[in-house]
Amino acid sequence: MEKIVSLCKRRGFIFQSSEIYGGLKASYDYGPLGVELKRNIKDAWWRDMVHGREDIVGLDCSIIMHPDVWKASGHLAGFSDPLVDCRNCKERFRADKAPGAEPGATVTYAEGGKSGGKKLSGTVDPRGYVCPVCGSPDLSPERQFNLMFRTSLGPVDPLQQIADAAGELAALDSKSRMARLAEIVGQSAVYLRPETAQGMFVNFRNVLDSSRLKPPFGIAQVGKSYRNEITTSNLTFRTCEFEQMEMEFFCKPGTDEEWFAYWRDTRLEWYIRLGIHRDRLRLRDHEPSELAHYAKACSDVEYFFPFENVVGTGEWGELEGIANRTDYDLKKHSEYSGKELEYFDPDTQEHYTPYVIEPAAGADRAALAFLCDAYDEETVITPKGQEETRTVLRFHPRIAPIKAAVFPLVKRDGMPEKARAIIGTLLKEGINCFYDQSGAVGRRYRRMDEAGTPFCITVDSQTLTDDTVTIRDRDTMAQERVPAGGLGEILKQRIWGEK
Ligand code: GAP
Repeated sequence: MEKIVSLCKRRGFIFQSSEIYGGLKASYDYGPLGVELKRNIKDAWWRDMVHGREDIVGLDCSIIMHPDVWKASGHLAGFSDPLVDCRNCKERFRADKAPGAEPGATVTYAEGGKSGGKKLSGTVDPRGYVCPVCGSPDLSPERQFNLMFRTSLGPVDPLQQIADAAGELAALDSKSRMARLAEIVGQSAVYLRPETAQGMFVNFRNVLDSSRLKPPFGIAQVGKSYRNEITTSNLTFRTCEFEQMEMEFFCKPGTDEEWFAYWRDTRLEWYIRLGIHRDRLRLRDHEPSELAHYAKACSDVEYFFPFENVVGTGEWGELEGIANRTDYDLKKHSEYSGKELEYFDPDTQEHYTPYVIEPAAGADRAALAFLCDAYDEETVITPKGQEETRTVLRFHPRIAPIKAAVFPLVKRDGMPEKARAIIGTLLKEGINCFYDQSGAVGRRYRRMDEAGTPFCITVDSQTLTDDTVTIRDRDTMAQERVPAGGLGEILKQRIWGEK
């Protein structure tokens, strides 16, 4: 993981946010290569989930929605995580994500979590976990923490309102004071959405009335979501601001289990088709005790990330959840809004509230999985006969940030001009390319390997006589000679051919 983190910064995939100010916890920026990678993942999702199908349409909703949306969805009352403080190193973490340990077992840890700190030992309590940072079992009780980011809408300053009510508040006991404060803040409170899904539910009628769709059909959205996460670690795996790719598939009750099985398989297949190793992916069905209150069934697509924690290296992490949300959301929004959210089937003269199957993926988590999965190192022999480590990102060409690099073999004899002309044509054809003329060609290949560029095109002296160029394949390192005029078609076929 350390090597991946360092490559991300060095090559411009991911930077810490506001780095020159010391950074902000769990906030990241995507650099020139990272933004292309994430965009390609989102485009591939949109292409496969929306443009490639007749039964799914897209939507782009506001991040700030009416606060009643979150009352109806249950997020205001129940979107919380169990929070625990480590009394040894002071880390604050999520109980349900802490590394498991046998209740009653004796564990050792360093005082204050400092390397070289005095060795202490303690007994794991019946909760069966230890601190994820220092491994201590000396932990506070769990308390619930709501993950929604609250802000206020309009020209109201809740701080001023609280200051104005200071006298009234001082006279109240602590429980009544909290209730009064919640009332004051609540007058202008709005929330950053913690999921994109609710936008699809509240627009169900709008989409139904404005399109000619009838169940089964889906509404898809890609956009930012926000959660005030307690435990954030492992680069972009769990952050407070992230992008989701969610689709709500509305179907007739009774057909939901069939659709659930379909989407479960289809979504797993999607990651495999985009090049993720099959043996690093799994589908995990939720235990009944794990299911969200609205879900009849849920399966996660998980990836084996190379994360390290106090109990070892390598960890299965969720990339996407596929849930059978039943008719819960439409019924709740109908109840809270007073609007009818049923479907009337003119063929059978039936009214029903559709069931919803939801494949909910994260673009940032997918990007991290694609990066981890693509990372490879191999030993190669240089032309001078020396051993060298080649670092290569083996991205599927469809998601690779740069599709092709174009090099003039030398910086003279008209080769740079020819290479520039080729790049101009390829860019016009929608192929993201990169021009590089500095250093030995072998070095240029290595730089492109590290960026995950699948094809390198070299203009050499033969190009100037017969208008052919070489294409070098990133994975096999094999070179072939092709006519320069046919490059666009050849590359398009290799990048997007098996859409
Ligand atoms: N509408 C259902 C829903 O939001 P979720 O499992 O909470 O379900 C779906 O989120 C996906 O969004 C996750 O599988 C993950 O890929 C991504 N995701 C959720 N929280 C995240 C976070 N804090 N940081 C990065 N990605 C996150």
